[in-house]
Amino acid sequence: MGRLEGKSAVVTGGGTGIGRAASERFALEGARVVIAELNPDLAQETEQFIRDAGGDATFLQTDVTDEDQVEATMASVMVAHGSIDVLYNCAGGSITTDGKVDEIDLDAVYDHTMSLDLRGTMLCSRHAVPHMIASGGGAIVNMSSLAALNGVNMHVYSAAKGGVISLTRSMAASYARNGIRVNAICPGFVLTERVRERFGTAAGERPAQTDKTARRYPFGVGEPHEIANIALFLASDEARMITAAIVPADGGMSVY
Ligand SMILES: NC(=O)c1ccc[n+]([C@@H]2O[C@H](COP(=O)([O-])OP(=O)(O)OC[C@H]3O[C@@H](n4cnc5c(N)ncnc54)[C@H](O)[C@@H]3O)[C@@H](O)[C@H]2O)c1
Repeated sequence: MGRLEGKSAVVTGGGTGIGRAASERFALEGARVVIAELNPDLAQETEQFIRDAGGDATFLQTDVTDEDQVEATMASVMVAHGSIDVLYNCAGGSITTDGKVDEIDLDAVYDHTMSLDLRGTMLCSRHAVPHMIASGGGAIVNMSSLAALNGVNMHVYSAAKGGVISLTRSMAASYARNGIRVNAICPGFVLTERVRERFGTAAGERPAQTDKTARRYPFGVGEPHEIANIALFLASDEARMITAAIVPADGGMSVY
């Protein structure tokens, strides 16, 4: 029996990176996964991979920053599956033009990043929560970042992910009596394709410990499946006693 057996799970940004690893893992654990993703090529690859492995996955093209699309996606999930038991708000990320408040092009960076990382999380939660309340509860897992806890030179991303932490704790408080648990994960660097490019490492390889950034991670830089494992636990009934938790997942970097 899988750890998410029979549950209906929506994973945003499931086309690649951590969202893809989580979609695959959730399906392997028995969830009926909906990949709510902007990029159809990536999402269809994830969907096909899961189906080929015998899992249940459906791609619904969704821009998480667009309220009408988000509302329509959640309504479609309800028609198809009858409930939304898990929402993993994974779509997000920083952009290279982010920086210090006195240097950035505020309009370009602020609007994009706040919209994707904070508004997207808020909109998906806003349209999943009423369905969760109606069916007696559920689990929301949000993606924050170590950038929200440590000082980084990406001030907008840091603020957006800080907002995700505050939103997580407020929603956890507001919906606890409705049986909804809300938790967030704060990864350090995770070796998605995007981050691999930064380190110049091939799939399956970890960056050399001679790399200045990699050396700060005593357990090595994380892999997408390692974050997916944490999301799986928080999404599953094994975490029944846990809500409002902010889980750093940085391989010991922040205490090292
Ligand atoms: N990779 C890291 O090092 C790292 C570290 C800390 C936190 N995070 C967070 O983890 C989450 C996943 O990061 P990742 O590195 O796996 O990302 P990624 O860039 O590898 O994948 C992001 C996915 O989201 C999709 N997406 C982008 N905009 C979207 C939108 N508007 N609507 C729907 N889907 C959209 C993309 O098409 C892509 O499939 C993000 O929230 C990110 O901020 C990542």
